[in-house]
Amino acid sequence: MIRSIIVGSGAAKPRNVVTNAELEKRVETSDEWIRQRTGIEQRWIAEDDETTASLGENAARAALKDADLTPDDIDLIILATSTPNNTFPASAVEIQNRLGMTHGAAFDMQAVCSGFVYALTTADAFIQAGQAKRVLVIGSETFSRILDWEDRTTCVLFGDGAGAVVVERGDGVGMSNDRGILTSHLRSDGSHKDKLFVDGGPSTTGTVGHLRMQGRDVFKHAVAMITDVIEDAFSATGLNADDIDWFIPHQANKRIIDASAKKLNIAPEKVVMTVAEHGNTSAASIPQAIDVAVRDGRLKKGDLVLLEAMGGGFTWGAVLVRW
Ligand code: ACO
Repeated sequence: MIRSIIVGSGAAKPRNVVTNAELEKRVETSDEWIRQRTGIEQRWIAEDDETTASLGENAARAALKDADLTPDDIDLIILATSTPNNTFPASAVEIQNRLGMTHGAAFDMQAVCSGFVYALTTADAFIQAGQAKRVLVIGSETFSRILDWEDRTTCVLFGDGAGAVVVERGDGVGMSNDRGILTSHLRSDGSHKDKLFVDGGPSTTGTVGHLRMQGRDVFKHAVAMITDVIEDAFSATGLNADDIDWFIPHQANKRIIDASAKKLNIAPEKVVMTVAEHGNTSAASIPQAIDVAVRDGRLKKGDLVLLEAMGGGFTWGAVLVRW
C-alpha cells in the first residue's frame, strides 16, 4: 500500500529575537508572568523585509537540502498559514516562484494553529490518490503583523518563523511499523469562532485586523479536544502512549502541552518542547519543533511520532507518523 514518508525537514527564523524583558518595555507585563503562565522566554519577530513567503522559502530550501532533492523533484506545495503576504495570490505560489518552479501546483491552507496538521493530512491524501509524488509541506507565519501590540493578553504569546517537510510517496504493507503517515484525524467546530479570531478581513471590514482571544476559554477547551483526537488516532491504529517515541505538539503554551501529555500518560522525556525559544508560531510551530528534534539527534528513522495541534475556529487534529 501507498505510504507518505517524510524524507526531509528544515526551518527558518527571522533575524531578531525579542526577550520577555524587552516586552516589559512595551506593555505592562513581566518575564515572570509570561514564563509562569506560558513557558515562553523569547520569540523571533520578523523585520520589514522578512515575510511569510521569504521565511517559508528558506524553510523549504532547508528541507529540500535535507532530503537531497531540488525544486524540480517537487510536484505540489502546500503552505499552512494565516498570515499570507497578500490576500491573494496564495503565498504558496509566491514560494513556488521563489524556488524557480513553473511546474506543479501550490496552494495555501488556512486552519490557524492546526494548519500544519491539516496540510500534512492533505499532502497524504494527494499522495494516496495518486495526484502527487513529492509534496513540500510548509508552515510559515508572521503573526507579529496581526498582533495588537497594546494588548498584553495576546502580544506576549506569539512569534514568527517557518518550518517545512518533504513528503514522498513510498510503499508499505499496511502495518504500524511501515515508514510514513499511519493515520490522521482532523476536526473543527465553528461555534467557537469568537474565542479566537482576527477582527478584520477582506469580506467584512476590508482590513487585515488584529488577533483577539479569550485565553481562559481557549485553555479550557484545548486539553480535552487535543486528547480526544489523539485517542481517535490510537484507536485507529491499535497503538498507545507507550508506543510513542516522540510527542511533537503545537507549541502554544507549556501548561497545555504538559496537561495533555499527562492526561495521555506520555512520559515528559518524550515531549519535544520548543515554546520557550519560539513562542507560539501557529502553523509553523510543529515543523520548527520537528526540525529541532531532527537536528539535535533525538528524532531518528523508525521512531513513532505523534503530532497534534489545536487552534482558532476551533480546528484541531492529530497525525501518527513512523519516521
Ligand atoms: N502580563 C501580566 N499580566 C497579564 C498579562 C500579561 N501579559 N496578560 C494578562 N494578565 C493579567 C490579566 O489582566 C489578569 O489580571 P486580573 O486578574 O487583574 O484581571 C491576570 O493576568 C490573569 O489573567 P488570565 O487571562 O486569567 O490568565 P490565565 O492564567 O488564563 O493565563 C493565558 C492567560 C496565558 C493566555 C492562558 O489563558 C492561556 O494559555 N490560554 C491558552 C491560549 C493560548 O495558548 N492560545 C494560543 C492560541 S490557541 C492555540 O494555539 C491552542
